[in-house]
Amino acid sequence: MKLAIVLAVVAVMVVLRLVRAGLLVWLAAWWVGTYAVLRYGFVTPIPASALHIFMAITALSLFAYATSSRERMRATYEPVLAFASESRFTLPLALVAASIPGVVAWSVYQGLQQPLQPPYFGRTVHPSPPAEITSRGEKVDLARAANPFRNLEKTDVQAFRRHVENGRRVYYRNCFFCHGDDLGGAGMYAHGLDPVPANFLDSGVLPMFQESFFFWRIAKGGPGMPDEGAPGDSAMPEWERMLSNEEMWDVILFLYDDAGYRPRALEAVGAEVAH
Ligand code: HEC
Repeated sequence: MKLAIVLAVVAVMVVLRLVRAGLLVWLAAWWVGTYAVLRYGFVTPIPASALHIFMAITALSLFAYATSSRERMRATYEPVLAFASESRFTLPLALVAASIPGVVAWSVYQGLQQPLQPPYFGRTVHPSPPAEITSRGEKVDLARAANPFRNLEKTDVQAFRRHVENGRRVYYRNCFFCHGDDLGGAGMYAHGLDPVPANFLDSGVLPMFQESFFFWRIAKGGPGMPDEGAPGDSAMPEWERMLSNEEMWDVILFLYDDAGYRPRALEAVGAEVAH
């Protein structure tokens, strides 16, 4: 409770008592005083909806009081009638009438002063993968699995190139529509998507993760995103429905090869697989 506000309201009422204010003034004072205390008198604000309910109840009770006897009714409406009809009030009446559009305009202006902000949906672009997934019936341990064709790079370069070329075919048949023909994420459909397709040239993507991380993202796509990554409703398809596991590992080889990045080393992956 903020004591200053309550004391100010009480002080105004004491003054009204001393000047023997009429009933109409008292009704207004009670309504405004109640509003001031409820709206400004609490350190923790009362929700606007509750405030509206309280003020409607206050207005109804004041109305019931004002109409509870003939004298009170007369004391309420006579000053209003006098104000509206007697010639000595012409100027104040004109001022009140003129200020009504001003008040409306001011409150509309106040309402428009709220800064416009899009609704906020937090989305983690690279959520933690599950420990293990099953893709096309095969279990893949995401913390430990290496690309099964990666070691060919050292043992059989020709076989390795064949896998990379197969990955290139997979990419230009399936992925470039969204991820772009230069891997930069600006494919022909990219402008219609939110979140936008991943940009594989970005140094924050390929070199930061294990190949198994991308295997998971390719196999399970947007639908496989855990909740923290999901609110973006990603358009990335679940490729395990269309591609074999080998094709998915191959396209990963191609992405690294073409973008010129190395996967994050297995040794660097301990407890913290995810970023
Ligand atoms: C219909 C458009 C579309 C197609 C086609 C598509 N993707 Fe995606 N992809 C996305 C979008 C959008 C994202 C970003 C949102 C997300 O991470 O889910 C994404 C994200 C990814 C990611 C995650 C990157 C990261 O930083 O975590 C990988 C990997 C990926 N795509 C690979 C592929 C591969 C490989 C193909 C083809 C086999 C493919 N995508 C085809 C739309 C597409």
